[in-house]
Amino acid sequence: MLSNSAGPIGVFDSGYGGLTILKEFNRKLPQYDYIYLGDNARAPYGNRSFDSVYHYTLQAVNWLFSQGCQLVILACNTASAKALRTIQQNDLPKIDYLRRVLGVIRPSAEAVGNLTKSRNVGILGTIGTVVSESYPIEINKLYPDITTYQQACPLWVPLIENDEFLNVGSDYFFMKDINNLLKNNNNIDTIILGCTHYPLIINSLKKFVPKNINIISQDKIVAESLTNYLKRHPEMKTKCKKDGVTQFFTTDDVDIFNSRGKIFYKKDICAKHIDL
Ligand code: DGL
Repeated sequence: MLSNSAGPIGVFDSGYGGLTILKEFNRKLPQYDYIYLGDNARAPYGNRSFDSVYHYTLQAVNWLFSQGCQLVILACNTASAKALRTIQQNDLPKIDYLRRVLGVIRPSAEAVGNLTKSRNVGILGTIGTVVSESYPIEINKLYPDITTYQQACPLWVPLIENDEFLNVGSDYFFMKDINNLLKNNNNIDTIILGCTHYPLIINSLKKFVPKNINIISQDKIVAESLTNYLKRHPEMKTKCKKDGVTQFFTTDDVDIFNSRGKIFYKKDICAKHIDL
């Protein structure tokens, strides 16, 4: 039986990428408690099937609910693209219709409308996110006049997770995927980094993106969107615990998580292991 009392805000990612979002939650909304879960044992999710991503994400959400979370943020584009809708529509009504699971794609889609002037927007993401078409669908629901161009970057997450992203070898893949995106249209003026791992490589990416193009990183956008959500939903706000405590869990080795995670979170982490 799930408890109804206030709990931490759950933050889930396949691995480390969601730490870039959590860092911004801590900065913007430091009063709340958070539980971060990284499914590192099964990451990356980017090349996995819809079914696998859905089942893994549902397991993670159920575990976060069992820890008392009333609100869970899927701080992972791949999970948001492949699992969020089914969880919201089919699973939440059965598990607990008062709990909420939110993703990162909608806030990014909302933000882009005010940033692009040319109305040509590029999206960089994992294969899973790109194939799901979630960005074009969400953006065009809000802004039918925007034309979107997507580019899958299947090697970026493995390069980042393996701490190879500052090496010149990685630059080759960053440049190649950016060029493939930009050659679609000379008028792209805004690029969404549609993967929570990518804020870490923003400086490397800037080397290959012309200066007149905006690069939108999700960390600030998603934190702003959570702030607004909590303002608009006082009933959920009261169910989010406010002791300023953040805990970390990983499905893989804790020592590796603590040392690699620090690259994303920029502060020391002391994670515990769980099995899903
Ligand atoms: N951080 C995840 C995202 O935002 C993806 C990483 C993965 O492939 O697991 O898409």
